[in-house]
Amino acid sequence: MAWDPTLYLKFGDERLRPGFELLARIGELPPGPLVELGCGTGVHARAIAARWPERTLTAIDRSREMLAKAAAEPSPIRWLEADIASWSAPEPAALIFSNATLQWLGRHAQLFPHLMRQLAPGGVLAVQMPRNFDQPSHVLMRETARDGSWSAKLAPVVGGATVLREDPVAPPEWYYDLLTPQAQDGLDLWETDYLHVLAGEDPVLQWVSATALRPVIEALDGGERAAFLAAYGAKLRQAYPRRADGKTLLPFRRLFLVARAR
Ligand SMILES: C[S@@+](CC[C@H](N)C(=O)[O-])C[C@H]1O[C@@H](n2cnc3c(N)ncnc32)[C@H](O)[C@@H]1O
Repeated sequence: MAWDPTLYLKFGDERLRPGFELLARIGELPPGPLVELGCGTGVHARAIAARWPERTLTAIDRSREMLAKAAAEPSPIRWLEADIASWSAPEPAALIFSNATLQWLGRHAQLFPHLMRQLAPGGVLAVQMPRNFDQPSHVLMRETARDGSWSAKLAPVVGGATVLREDPVAPPEWYYDLLTPQAQDGLDLWETDYLHVLAGEDPVLQWVSATALRPVIEALDGGERAAFLAAYGAKLRQAYPRRADGKTLLPFRRLFLVARAR
């Protein structure tokens, strides 16, 4: 799936803020290399490298477009094109950091314990994932996908292993029970309900077009794509009305977890 770094960074402040809040909760690290999974445009990787300048940092993504943007400015970070689903650390890591990425991968019951096993003793797994899949932005996306002439084409997208499925991220308690056997002192686990204030025309449509809607956009061609966007956009305008000042509010829940390996 192609990513568009410019479109993604259109709401860069809102999208990147949770990653900095996650980074702020990471304490001391044991010796060892650092890894970011799903580094995107590399903004958090640069902040990680600045905080631990003496460590090696490998930042992994499978999008060439995102990695090209990340690597455009020189840095000591090692940018690596790879699939997280089949990733293992070449040596035990002091930190595995992942912001707004692991919701794209399935099989969390296997993936998260596997990631914990890639850490050195005392190493940290720090993850943020959206948990807004029951919000109108996603409910209306699935509803529109199922309702139109495009429903057969979109069935594999909506039903497949993408963030369009209904529950890509489990409730916090599920991750707690899954990871505490491998963690020291339980987990640092929290959710934040952001209320993003977005400017411009159809900002919620623009927001999802850079992320969750991408598999739909890619599955449809010209005319059908335009018809889908018109139908879905009209529903979004009703669900997220403009405020008196012309801005649009987008409520957005995110789950954070920081686990330290035994
Ligand atoms: C929503 S973006 C987040 C990027 C960055 N972490 C940030 O906070 O801006 C999700 C990123 O995960 C990457 N990604 C998704 N699935 C992946 C996979 N299986 N392996 C590697 N990267 C993946 C995408 O290419 C994309 O750059």
